[in-house]
Amino acid sequence: MQPPAVIAIDGPAGSGKSTLGALLARQLGYIYFDTGVMYRALTVVALQQQLDLHDAAALATLAQRTQIEVLRPTIADGRQYTVRANGQDITLELRQPVIDQHVSFVALQPAVRSELVRQQRAIGTRGQVVMVGRDIGTVVMPDAPLKIYLSASLHERARRRHAQYIHHHGDALERVVVELARRDQLDAHVLQPASDAIVINTDHLSPEEEVEYVLALWRQHATAAACPTMGIAAHPDPLE
Ligand code: DC
Repeated sequence: MQPPAVIAIDGPAGSGKSTLGALLARQLGYIYFDTGVMYRALTVVALQQQLDLHDAAALATLAQRTQIEVLRPTIADGRQYTVRANGQDITLELRQPVIDQHVSFVALQPAVRSELVRQQRAIGTRGQVVMVGRDIGTVVMPDAPLKIYLSASLHERARRRHAQYIHHHGDALERVVVELARRDQLDAHVLQPASDAIVINTDHLSPEEEVEYVLALWRQHATAAACPTMGIAAHPDPLE
């Protein structure tokens, strides 16, 4: 049986996963699913309930009891999706600096991870989805037919984040560098590319170039699946 049509995109914060994922999904007519929003949603609820974010048992219970829904946008305010937790629209809370500061602690909890991975897998196995996260290629969908791991230098990632959020937060670039370095450290436990992932350094690529590259890989994959004797080259470079 063919594995479900899934493109897995992993990589550190600010590497361009969500931009690439959303563009690819639009081009292919697939669902775009940013798994990071589930960890963020749980963090919003945990803070609302004033839980201790180091209390493993409390967070495990919270993960099991919180109904997180990731939907198409319900309001036309530029959002890519609507996220509800127990029926409450929390989309605007997800990107608040306080959530950036705390989400990695929630994502560290093994019981939180196993519950959210279970829910993510249920969505992934339906297929026709571009899934973005940290452990999609290694844990959530290890059989995904195409796995991309995006990398970019700390400085370039900080520059992008700074440009993206300057109007909201007004942080200096140096502060964004420090914050991203801190998150890299906390996320290190899930920052390993799958052994069969194609690693793309995006320092000098535009989102359009990245999309073109990955679409070419996807077409190669589709051709190889239709004609199995062709296979896919070990190090394909479709832009050549
Ligand atoms: O991609 P992001 O910044 O929205 O991710 C938020 C947090 O969730 C970050 O600390 C990494 C974590 N995360 C994870 O551990 N596994 C995923 N599949 C997605 C995100």
